[in-house]
Amino acid sequence: MLFRELNRGKCKTYLVACERTRRAALIDPVKTQVERYLAMLAYERLILDAVIDTHTHADHPTGSFLLKDLTDARLIMHRRAPAPAVTHHVEGGDTIMLGDVKLEVLYTPGHSPDSIALYAGDRVFTGDVLLIGGTGRADFAGGDAGRQYDSITGKLFTLPDDTLVFPAHDYRGNTFTTIGAEKQQNPRIAGRTREEYIALMASISFPLPEKIQEVLQPNQTAIDDDKTKFPDLTQLNHVRQLNADEVGVQLKAASPPFVLDVREQQEFTGELGHIPGSTLIPLRELADRARELLAHKMGPTVVVCRSGVRSTTAAAILEGLGFEHVYNLQGGMVDWNDRKLPVER
Ligand SMILES: [Fe+2]
Repeated sequence: MLFRELNRGKCKTYLVACERTRRAALIDPVKTQVERYLAMLAYERLILDAVIDTHTHADHPTGSFLLKDLTDARLIMHRRAPAPAVTHHVEGGDTIMLGDVKLEVLYTPGHSPDSIALYAGDRVFTGDVLLIGGTGRADFAGGDAGRQYDSITGKLFTLPDDTLVFPAHDYRGNTFTTIGAEKQQNPRIAGRTREEYIALMASISFPLPEKIQEVLQPNQTAIDDDKTKFPDLTQLNHVRQLNADEVGVQLKAASPPFVLDVREQQEFTGELGHIPGSTLIPLRELADRARELLAHKMGPTVVVCRSGVRSTTAAAILEGLGFEHVYNLQGGMVDWNDRKLPVER
């Protein structure tokens, strides 16, 4: 297996490739470095087979969308990843093949609901769940310190002690660690119970990453233009949430809510289908087409997307336009399908 870290900075991007077939994957590519990656791939005569984001990044624009557009590469993320540009969704237990190289997907939520680790036999790419002498923050929307503890102790720490660990970030100039070393010495988690870890994470006040808004929302939506006005984080925090079962019950009532789906057309009729009777307006068109929805301004509206992230943005946009009773379908069509509620395709 060919292996290299490409950025030599705080954000890590890894190249893994099969020597025989020259098929390569980039893990967590950074948008500002895309030209360098393409030049390096050409120089090494590698074929970019896959770009993989270990999770939706909040601190830098992903290079995955651009690389997918410029090459024939698959864009692989966990099934709870919100971005519509993803071409292949994976879950824990899946494998990603690059010629003879096999990456096993471990589902490791906690830093975010869509976090995965990739295990390649002698090494594991841990994203932002397990860092070198640290762990990723769990205080962003969808983060959960308890689940993070379970992912680290129940999945990553069950790998052999000599497994090399390559995280998505390091802020102290380290390049790798091992599972054994982190089990022994990681100051956040070694020797702590789940409750102690949750209390520790709650006690740390992390500064918000610079430009989180400008970074996170394009990474979640694949909308990266100057026209789109995203609501700010405080507005998003106010969006009222309903889970799939609650929406299911409301739809059977005498006066059901209006259901607005904000995914792309191909998702609406794709694998997850849509809620019967729902109306499609993709998020990128919502601000321009909100006039079409004026009839629903006073009544209850439930906004729907793949995993509940784009729809939270859409709900905040509608609230900003004066819609009074807007709710978000928490967990989106992923949860809706998991609950076996009715879909149309
Ligand atoms: Fe992250």
